[in-house]
Amino acid sequence: MSRVTEPNVRVSTTAAALARAAAEEFLECARTALSKRGRFVAALSGGNTPRATCAELAGPDLRERIDWARVKLFQVDERLVPPTDAGSNYRMLHDALASRVPLPVDGFERMWSEGDPASVAARAERRMRAWFGTKAGEVPRFDLILLGMGADGHTASLFPNSPALQEKQRLVVPVEAEPPYRQRLTLTLPVLNNAASVIFLVSGKDKADTVREVLRPEGGAAPVPAAYVQPSDGPALWLLDAAAASALR
Ligand code: 6PG
Repeated sequence: MSRVTEPNVRVSTTAAALARAAAEEFLECARTALSKRGRFVAALSGGNTPRATCAELAGPDLRERIDWARVKLFQVDERLVPPTDAGSNYRMLHDALASRVPLPVDGFERMWSEGDPASVAARAERRMRAWFGTKAGEVPRFDLILLGMGADGHTASLFPNSPALQEKQRLVVPVEAEPPYRQRLTLTLPVLNNAASVIFLVSGKDKADTVREVLRPEGGAAPVPAAYVQPSDGPALWLLDAAAASALR
């Protein structure tokens, strides 16, 4: 019986405890950034696991623990559906967090999803560069990027064997994925790997084998997209529930 030995892996007993632990980590990253730089810039993923964390952050006992006036949120990825669509990551993040905390008027940057993929990807990149003040060739540095992971090892909207995994210049690219959301936008690995902190939030037994594959790779298997996330400032923090960690112990 092996136990979880990785220092950058923390296991919560349940999905609810995981959401709370992730919210606390978010606040810790925010506190550090606010004290060092006077602002906190984060990029949030879509999906169900981040939704629970957002609800914790917007909840009565945590929402006051951060000066939202100095926070700027971006999206990690988006499906090319209207922002009112049930599958919209923007809609999830807006409903679960951005509409429930006192962010500044421009505190949550929506990845436009209306238009041809190349144009809206270029628009998202242009607006991100403008906000960070980065020039071509420079990579913006987020204080925190919150990622989920699919059972196939995808993260953000970087899917296995996607050409987007090889992108070295662009910050945001359009991708083709499997249905139901075939057309998507995603931040690229240069952005993910330049963040001061990266946190993976993973819940559920269906991901346990992939978690082990990423954290304890055995020779031979081709790395899944989540394994390409190797932040230059140090390893990502993996926040798991017991089910997602069950193949590690
Ligand atoms: C998306 C998400 C995606 C998500 C994973 C995990 O647009 O689909 O950004 O990368 O993080 O699929 O999703 P769950 O947390 O819902 O399992």
